[in-house]
Amino acid sequence: MERLAGTRVLLGVSGGIAAYKAALVARLLVGAGATVDTVLTRGAERFIGVTTFEGLTGRPARVEVWEDVASETHVALGRAADVALIYPATAHVLAKLAGGLADDLLTTTLLAATCPVVVAPAMHTEMWQHAATRHNVEVLRGRGVLVVGPDDGVLMGGDSGPGRLVEPDVAVDAVVAALMSAGPAERDLDGVRLLVTAGGTREPIDPVRFLGNRSSGKMGFALAEVAASRGAKVTLVAGPTHLTAPAGVDRIDVVTAQEMYDAVMGRVDEVDVIVKAAAVADFRPSSTATSKLKKDAGVPSIDLVRNPDILADLGAQRGDADRPLLVGFAAETDEVEQAGRDKLARKGADLLVVNDVGASDAGFEVDTNRVLILDRDGTRSEVPLATKGEIAGTILDAVGARLRG
Ligand code: CTP
Repeated sequence: MERLAGTRVLLGVSGGIAAYKAALVARLLVGAGATVDTVLTRGAERFIGVTTFEGLTGRPARVEVWEDVASETHVALGRAADVALIYPATAHVLAKLAGGLADDLLTTTLLAATCPVVVAPAMHTEMWQHAATRHNVEVLRGRGVLVVGPDDGVLMGGDSGPGRLVEPDVAVDAVVAALMSAGPAERDLDGVRLLVTAGGTREPIDPVRFLGNRSSGKMGFALAEVAASRGAKVTLVAGPTHLTAPAGVDRIDVVTAQEMYDAVMGRVDEVDVIVKAAAVADFRPSSTATSKLKKDAGVPSIDLVRNPDILADLGAQRGDADRPLLVGFAAETDEVEQAGRDKLARKGADLLVVNDVGASDAGFEVDTNRVLILDRDGTRSEVPLATKGEIAGTILDAVGARLRG
């Protein structure tokens, strides 16, 4: 079935060079079964014309408050929307939304909308990192707005850094996730202090080489994003990744398993929930060469030693206490459920999210996942193929249920 069948999406396009990508979003939304109303700012109209959107959506695309007033006012447009996506969202539009300003059709329509709102910021790094923008994003997130991206990557004019608009398919996934989550009013994790680890660790062999794994960090970052939008105070301990931390999340970058261990163990007393989505290297070279290993010196043999098992140590240290709540992940290829049950017991976790990493559309690097959530009380729930944002929502539902006892 089409993912957005029967859904009316308000697509807001604001004025940045990335506005051209909004045409692709319009196409994806229509392809997913949505009815799309496009509203452009005047700035957006200078980058991309309404005709493109009218052709793609088969519906009027509008810029001015003063047009078509009799048929479709901003109030009607806002009320009709099941979800709104602002793609791209400039720093200026974020500021206007945060301040509740309504000086054009897009902002008046959004003020009249009560549906979930997703914003995909795009701007230069300096603008994204400006205290004013950070504040505005915080305000919006506090209101339940889902902020997707920005990515870290190539920007206009050859610059590079955080501020790049997320790709169209990621924005559409966020629209689906926003519809599936309870919407702006859902703040069921308000005040919960949640630490999530994400990505893979790197264990250095010499100054240029390391042992690593295929984890991209997407699952852990999705958990951080969704938890923050549901009111949690999130600490994200991240291995090396190009992903940008969601605004308002406290990010701690680590490289090795030992650094991740120290970052997590040093915060155990400050958190209510620990979600170990990271793929931690189980082994590291017993020593790191200080100079690059040269091939003329022959094939090196690398001695490996065990890394600490962070989750197992958390479980052992907590013992019979009920906090922090511990959520583990397991990447399995065989006898997936039994292996998951064994790991849940062995590591002393409360919940274990089992990935079948043998499948090509789930697990490492891809945007979708299919998981089994095992609870230590013996219950299980299967989550069919869904985006990592949707899976994050389901995992956090299980966390919320456990926290409430
Ligand atoms: N984990 C951890 N520290 C490690 C290894 C794993 O905290 N050194 C955590 C992971 O973050 C994950 C869970 O343990 O939440 C299971 O990871 P997985 O790689 O599936 O399990 P392993 O412990 O490596 O077990 P095995 O090698 O037997 O599959």
